[in-house]
Amino acid sequence: MAKLWTGRTSGNIDPAAESYNRSIAFDSRMWREDIEASIAHAEMLAKQGIIPHEAGETIRLGLSEIFSDIETGKLTIDPEAEDIHSFVEAELTRRVGEAGKMLHTARSRNDQVAQDLRLYLRSEGIATAALIKDLARTLCEKAAEEKSTVMPGYTHLQRAQPITFGHHLMAYAMMLTRDIGRISDALSRMDETPIGSCALAGTTYDTDRYYEAGLLDFSAPCRNSLDGVSDRDFAVELCSALALVMTHLSRFSEEVILWSSWEFRFASLSDAYSTGSSIMPQKKNPDMAELTRGKTGRVYGDLMALLTMLKGIPLAYNKDMQEDKEAIFDAFDTVKAALRVFAPMIATMRVNRENMRRAAEKGFINATDLADYLVGKGMPFRTAYKLVGEIVSLCSEKGLTLEELSLDEYKKLSPLFSEDLYPAIDIEACCFKRTSLGGPTPESVEAQIEYVKEKLGL
Ligand code: ARG
Repeated sequence: MAKLWTGRTSGNIDPAAESYNRSIAFDSRMWREDIEASIAHAEMLAKQGIIPHEAGETIRLGLSEIFSDIETGKLTIDPEAEDIHSFVEAELTRRVGEAGKMLHTARSRNDQVAQDLRLYLRSEGIATAALIKDLARTLCEKAAEEKSTVMPGYTHLQRAQPITFGHHLMAYAMMLTRDIGRISDALSRMDETPIGSCALAGTTYDTDRYYEAGLLDFSAPCRNSLDGVSDRDFAVELCSALALVMTHLSRFSEEVILWSSWEFRFASLSDAYSTGSSIMPQKKNPDMAELTRGKTGRVYGDLMALLTMLKGIPLAYNKDMQEDKEAIFDAFDTVKAALRVFAPMIATMRVNRENMRRAAEKGFINATDLADYLVGKGMPFRTAYKLVGEIVSLCSEKGLTLEELSLDEYKKLSPLFSEDLYPAIDIEACCFKRTSLGGPTPESVEAQIEYVKEKLGL
């Protein structure tokens, strides 16, 4: 395919160098954005009298045809083209002749690619936020069902204090709510278009950058042409938000994997989201969760690739920047794929309430409450803490829970103990009396669900 840039050079590029230089394999996915943006550009040029009106109309018709031909499969994108921008312009000129050669007036691939990428990532951001919302909705529904399901809460993966499963699930819903916030923040900063920056220094043509920005639903043109073509902050910001989404999904995955193990047996995944083993007939493996945990590293890698690509390049465009696309596309592809299996995996996960409740009985997760009981009887907390530590050791030796130790034994340890200690350390009571804001009670879980629903407009 003829090159756009055989001016200063002959264009007789070594085939290996040509293939190395090509980005069509990954930037062809921006064909819609490239064509729509070119239609807008031609419209602006015609409105400003920079190209004749008839040429503007010919370009518009030609590009619209190319759009529908690609969409219907009548036209395939040439894998030998250098990039999507070259392909579309060459195809237009092939179809409409001279008018096609006017399209690139007051434009460079530098501002074009920076704009195309923003347009593409805007839809990706919106689509990803919608998928995160689906998962948040699933969590709200599940949490409502499990708002009274008592389970042990953990620190250091050691049983710590009683919580409800609804409380646990809503912790993830809060993270996802912030994830959506981060994506929309990044999208709002990305809402200025570089088009009109041209190669780097703007143009001598009387362009109307506001008009062109408006045609593509940008709130404004960017204010510095050098920054316009050099900026990839938006890709970094989005990738960073995506990296955090993966962090959250990865932690969640780790818990799902633990919960579905024989050691925990807190939950079991639907067959639709499990796999078997080729040799061990009894196996049911949580592959979707493991893959999500595993794929998290890819997205971190994408973020590092973007940051590293940018850190040493002078203003304005450098070919290094072509590396932005594969990284950010991979990050979006990975996060969207993970979210698509995660929401239904959680929705169909069966919760084993009895095992959660049973686990809550062991592990002395009411020890803090026993100390608080003594505080209620006038003992300073630190003294109570120490005494309860000794009681836990004693029970541990005897193989008893705190509830099973007799009142006589308790009384030997402190005269402050009386019959009312038992209701005070009842596991349900310990969980449900933690009525502080944000806590595990059914009412608190309901309030958290309301908060998330309101924030996300669910
Ligand atoms: N394929 C290029 C990219 O993805 C388009 C911009 C090319 N600009 C240039 N001056 N070579 O970054």
